[in-house]
Formats: sequence, structure tokens, C-alpha cells
Amino acid sequence: MTNSIEITKAKTSKIQDVDFENLSFGKVFTDHMFTCDFKNGEWQKPEITPYAPLTLDPSARVFHYGQAVFEGMKAYKDDAGKVWLFRPEDNLARINKSAERLAMPAFPHDLFMDGLKKLINLDQDWVKPGFGNSLYIRPFVIATEPEIAASPSSEYKFLIICSPAQSYYSGDVRVLVAEQFSRSANGGVGFAKAAGNYAAQFYPTSLANKEGFQQIIWTDANTHEFLEEAGTMNVFFRINDTLYTAPTSERILDGITRKSIIQIAQDAGITVEIRPIKVSEIVEASKNGSLKEIFGSGTAAVVSPISAFSHKGELFEIPKQDDKYSDKFKKLLNGIQYNTLEDPYGWRQSI
Ligand SMILES: Cc1ncc(COP(=O)(O)O)c(C=O)c1O
Repeated sequence: MTNSIEITKAKTSKIQDVDFENLSFGKVFTDHMFTCDFKNGEWQKPEITPYAPLTLDPSARVFHYGQAVFEGMKAYKDDAGKVWLFRPEDNLARINKSAERLAMPAFPHDLFMDGLKKLINLDQDWVKPGFGNSLYIRPFVIATEPEIAASPSSEYKFLIICSPAQSYYSGDVRVLVAEQFSRSANGGVGFAKAAGNYAAQFYPTSLANKEGFQQIIWTDANTHEFLEEAGTMNVFFRINDTLYTAPTSERILDGITRKSIIQIAQDAGITVEIRPIKVSEIVEASKNGSLKEIFGSGTAAVVSPISAFSHKGELFEIPKQDDKYSDKFKKLLNGIQYNTLEDPYGWRQSI
């Protein structure tokens, strides 16, 4: 394998055609993409090429067995025009952990960092400055070998594509606590960013949407008594001044925003309890007025405050809070991401 990335630049840029004031998430992509094939037991020559459709054999295993993993991360531009990544090595570690569970090969660290930075450097005009504006980065790996045998592929494609994103106001997020469907199980793939984990949530989530809930908070598959995480977010509960979140496990994604919030909260002197949380505790806290906040954490919005949850047909509203932890965490994390605050943790990396 040779590590040097072959770069073919797009002849013209599509950027003039993009309305950056009215972006819908994940629909517009930048001018270039990074690709690298795995064949004969090793990663082949990496390339950056103009963004374009792929040609794959219909028998490629990804179409039949869903052998695919992905990541979600962002680049941010500061007011001086410098572009920053947030904990990118954690995304690489996680895609490789996901890949291992799906019997796929790991992607080399230096090649990932080099490919990522070169790609973003090339497309840096697509990263707009200002809080909320960012470049959403989607690394992913698919099984490309043309053979429909139900066994691991011997050929893969690793890609990175990028999509400009705006901050969006998600409105009032109301959630349904899962009682029937499950997202993951012991020994399963819940901790991995496996494509199929997301497809499996679409149907139960569409049922929840019809009842007026935007998201589901998943519970443990055995008893549905313990709160786990939401569709694309980890979840935090604030009871009085203590913050609670479920421990990560083989069923729960180890969110990078989650662990950053835990660190920031602890350093701010907030007590954080990382332990299994019973739905009944949250119901009780809501009834006795000690439940102050529920929020999701994830790369997309940093934090998404949740205004109400439903459990066993009963709706629990969370009263408005003036001094919200979620606002404080968002401000601090955004400050690190957009280079307006000191980064005592070394999370921010320039491209
Ligand atoms: C299932 C799930 N949980 C949690 C998260 C949040 O993770 P992160 O903070 O790394 O974006 C995501 C998004 O990646 C997710 O898909």
C-alpha cells in the first residue's frame, strides 16, 4: 500500500449554486470525496476525486447483508477563517471498533487523518464561519465484493463525504419512552455505528411521530425499565443539581459529545452519576418536581433539550428552566469547537 493520496480536483465548483442560508441537512455535498479500496488483504491507493456517484455490482454484499459502518463528525470555521476539527481521532477509533464488530478491516490512523485534513482543506470554502454553521463529515465503509454469499466481504470501500450544515432549531422535542420495540440487545451491535441500527429504528420512530413524538428514548430490551439512549443521541437527566446518564455498554453508542459533557460538567463541579437509570426514577422526579432537565447529546446539535416524555400513555412535561445546564454545556463546547474559548483538553485540532 502506498500512503500518498492521489488528488484529482474538480474542474468547476458547485459552490455558487448553493443557498447557504437555506440548507436542509445532508442534501448538498461538497466538490470532492475521499475514497480508498480494500482488496487482497490491504488498503489500496487512497484518492481524493470530484464528488460523484459510485458504480457497484448489484451483488455487492452491502446491499444484501448491510455490512456497513459510518461516522458523523464536523469541521468548524473561526472568525479568522481557520478550520477546526473536534476530537477526530475518537471518530476514527469508533469507526474501527464498529468495523471490527461487523467483521470489517480497520482503517489506518495516519491515512484517515491525512485524507480527512486534505479533503477539508480542499473544500474549506464550504465551511462557513459563525456559531451553528459547520461542515458535517460522513466517513463510511461498505462491503463491495460482488458475491451474495452470507459471509464477510473480502473487498471494501472507505469513503469520506462532506455536507455543509446550518444550525437548526429542532423545536419542542417530545419523546416517547420505548415499551415495545428495542434498538439493541446484549451481545448485539448497539454500540457500533452499524447502518442497520438506524434502519431498524425508522419504523418504530415513524409510529412515535404519528403520536406527536419526535424521538424515542430506547430502554433495555429485557425489561424496558432502564433508560438507554435516543436514535442519534445519548441522553442526560438533571434531577435537582445532579446530572445522570446511562453507562455506555455493548448496547449504547459511546458518544463523543456525551463524554465531553461529562468531563466539562465534572470540571464545573457538577455531580455526574453514570449508572443505570430506571424510568420509574424519572417519572417520580417529574411528579415531585425535582426533574429539571432532560437533553440529548450528539454531534448534530451538541445538546437538544427535551420538553416532555411519555411513558405508558402518561405525558410528563418538563417545566421551563432559567439556568439550564444544557445551555451552559452547549456554550462551552461551541466555544472550544469554534475557537472562541480556551481548549484545556486538547480536543480542537486544526486541519
Ligand atoms: C445511536 C447514537 N447515540 C449517540 C450519538 C451521539 O454520538 P456523538 O456525540 O459522538 O455524535 C449518535 C450520533 O453519532 C448515535 O448515532
